[in-house]
Amino acid sequence: MKTKIQVLESKIGEALKGGGEKRIASQHKKGKLTARERIHFLFDEGTFQEVGMLVTHHSTNFGLDKTKFLGDGVITGFGYVQGRLTYAFAQDFTVMGGSLAEAHAQKICRIMDLAMENGAPVIGLNDSGGARIQEGVVSLGGYADIFYKNTRASGVIPQLSLIMGPCAGGAVYSPALTDFIMMVEDTSYMFVTGPNVVKTVTHEEVSSEELGGASTHSTKSGVAHLTASNEVEAIEKLKQLLSYMPQNCEEDPAALSYEGGDEKRVKLNDIIPANANMPYDIKEVIDGVIDEGSFYEVHKDYAENIVVGFARLGGKSVGIVANQPAYLAGVLNIDASVKGARFVRFCDCFNIPLLVLEDVPGFLPGTDQEWNGIITHGAKLLYAFSEATVPRITVITRKAYGGAYDVMNSKHIGADMNYAWPSAEIAVMGAKGAAEIIFRNEIKGAENPQDKWLEKEQEYAEMFAHPYNAASRGYVDEVIKPEDTRSRLIVAYKMLENKVATLPKKKHGNIPL
Ligand code: HXC
Repeated sequence: MKTKIQVLESKIGEALKGGGEKRIASQHKKGKLTARERIHFLFDEGTFQEVGMLVTHHSTNFGLDKTKFLGDGVITGFGYVQGRLTYAFAQDFTVMGGSLAEAHAQKICRIMDLAMENGAPVIGLNDSGGARIQEGVVSLGGYADIFYKNTRASGVIPQLSLIMGPCAGGAVYSPALTDFIMMVEDTSYMFVTGPNVVKTVTHEEVSSEELGGASTHSTKSGVAHLTASNEVEAIEKLKQLLSYMPQNCEEDPAALSYEGGDEKRVKLNDIIPANANMPYDIKEVIDGVIDEGSFYEVHKDYAENIVVGFARLGGKSVGIVANQPAYLAGVLNIDASVKGARFVRFCDCFNIPLLVLEDVPGFLPGTDQEWNGIITHGAKLLYAFSEATVPRITVITRKAYGGAYDVMNSKHIGADMNYAWPSAEIAVMGAKGAAEIIFRNEIKGAENPQDKWLEKEQEYAEMFAHPYNAASRGYVDEVIKPEDTRSRLIVAYKMLENKVATLPKKKHGNIPL
């Protein structure tokens, strides 16, 4: 028996070595951790249980029968992350460049099946040279199997992707199908076709970093929701993100204990500038309303005219969608609509109540926006809110103009409670533009057109630049003092805790993609 146990021990020892010391050193030299080190940082001490450590490929192509590594370049298993059951796979770049083929893909699929059956999140730690070139079509099949499972798992369990090295070609589509992508700065990149192909096809010279590094995807493309300056920070940030989510779509996110007492926030009374055209930072409002220090922003550097992220209110998770008057006046454009819509969909999948802070002058005008489909993309946000069944509350802090008023979780599209601050202006458009259109002839014929315009602007503002018309129709449930916002929200979400809302029977809706 002793020898049999020794055989097992030697196999485990072999698996633990990954691609060997030389390749591990090379991994470290690049500023990257090994797959095992990443797993170590991710899971609570001693809780990780590996599944499929002894799996190998069975290919004989191009001498592969002489190049077998136990585990086949990916570590898969389950354990506890901050006390919660979590499944993970970590691609091991030291083994054939973390390349993916039949056995490697089967291991990932197996872990995803277990996660689905047992209702717990899956975390993918990606670091791979892509399809294992020697194995050919089975690699492509393996990817497709994973894509299919990603899609089936979407909305059932949270799926989070951490990109910690190369992620290129069709391989990018697995992370793209998951809920959140975090990239590590300087050591990770994602692209469908790399710099060499780009050069051949379009004659553009571009580096990997420029084409698909963390900075590119977190600012230009929006592919990455989050970035981290190193791998340990990335793992810590990922754990924090996970803490706002439930285990699966049938559960609510875990609440933290909360003792009241700090509900009144008088600082909120001083945020809105006297001049309605002056910017202010909506994040000050967010901080003023939520549990201290609980804001976890997502997509921070992308489409900054809308702010989205998780926070806690009275210990409970909420998803915040807020216009940002400090950036492009908080206007809705294509990128902001898509960013907002995606976030709303995630929150609705996983029973995270929504809070909208609204200060929006409308949709961004221009040929660029129209030709690139602001109609379709704006409709995504409208659709996402309209379909969401989680508790939904809106606070209008200032402008709620035009179609954007409707889109930003108005009562008409199913919001549960709508509050407005006394500074709210709910109108078809700003008073200046409105006066110019409806009083055009009067202004033109006046002795002093400029004075007339000002007079008419004033008249329109008095009529509409306040929340009381909307309140008189019940479009706004209450006009509240800013300092009372937090207490009103905590009570309102409690009131909505057992909300039951169902959608009409259908196969699925047809969101304007
Ligand atoms: C097999 C691979 C591999 C791959 C890397 N390796 N990629 N083995 N299949 N796809 C192996 C290398 O042979 C090497 O083995 C080890 O991994 C480390 O690779 P290096 O090249 O030394 O590392 P580095 O210099 O850091 O460069 C990393 C890299 C490069 C940029 C990722 O390896 C590379 O360009 N690989 C090929 C990428 C590729 O074309 N993949 C297919 C894309 S198509 P040794 O034994 O020396 O350690 C695709 C389609 C998916 O993925 C479609 C899904 C639908």
